[in-house]
Amino acid sequence: MYLVLLGPPGAGKGTQAVKLAERLSITHVASGDLFRENIGRGTPLGRRAKAYVDQGALVPDDLTVAMVMERLHQPDCRDGALLDGFPRTMAQAQALDQELVGDGKRLAGVLYIKAPDQVLLTRLAGRLTCSNCQATYHQTFHPPRVAGRCDRCGGRVYQREDDTWETARRRLQVYFSQTMPLIEYYRHAGLLVEVNGDQGAESVQEELVVKVNALEAAPFSEAQDA
Ligand code: AP5
Ligand code: MG
Ligand code: ZN
Repeated sequence: MYLVLLGPPGAGKGTQAVKLAERLSITHVASGDLFRENIGRGTPLGRRAKAYVDQGALVPDDLTVAMVMERLHQPDCRDGALLDGFPRTMAQAQALDQELVGDGKRLAGVLYIKAPDQVLLTRLAGRLTCSNCQATYHQTFHPPRVAGRCDRCGGRVYQREDDTWETARRRLQVYFSQTMPLIEYYRHAGLLVEVNGDQGAESVQEELVVKVNALEAAPFSEAQDA
């Protein structure tokens, strides 16, 4: 099953994806994590992406699409993937469609997590991220049990460089101008499923599970008509 998690920065895509992917036994593919990993390793891709990521701007489509497609062609994505943070532009969405169709596959749904802007900014400014498994925490809402250490893997938790108030605002503006058009694109395709991200993380997960189960149960033609 191939699913996309769509939503503004701070909506909870990463938080939800880690658990949902485990539950569905599909691979979590997060474009932001892939960029940060490349930046951390100092690869040629990481060196090209760094300035964009640091400023909260989108990395150009050609680099992003090539990176994500390469990841999707690895064996652990053969039967499905949960895409988090990709696609984010119309060009990326079209590239994904083409790629899946070319491989005889299709998207089962696009899970759109919504939350008010003020909630997003407060979440981002307090976020902590595990340097090893990418699990997310929050200084106030969800601190790690042992300060500075990930509950899941014991890795070091850190604050992302793009999680300053100013860069978070910039990322939100980029989302409004470049990513929001995808909502209508996927609604029109009959794939959009809306999820309330402005509730406790466990309630968001429950809503996601119910809605994904409904997608699995519904024949494709019905989802198209919805
Ligand atoms: P990326 O890493 O994808 O960042 P983003 O989209 O800005 O999204 P976030 O990771 O900030 O938000 P999230 O929804 O995952 O929130 P989270 O679950 O962590 O991208 C980073 C950069 O990479 C981009 O700016 C760009 O430069 C580049 N990039 C990536 N993909 C690209 C693409 N496709 N094209 C071009 N460039 C690309 O939650 C946030 C916080 O809130 C956490 O602290 C969490 O604990 C807390 N929280 C979550 N849910 C709840 C809840 N229900 N209640 C209370 N707190 C909660
Ligand atoms: Mg994320
Ligand atoms: Zn961890």
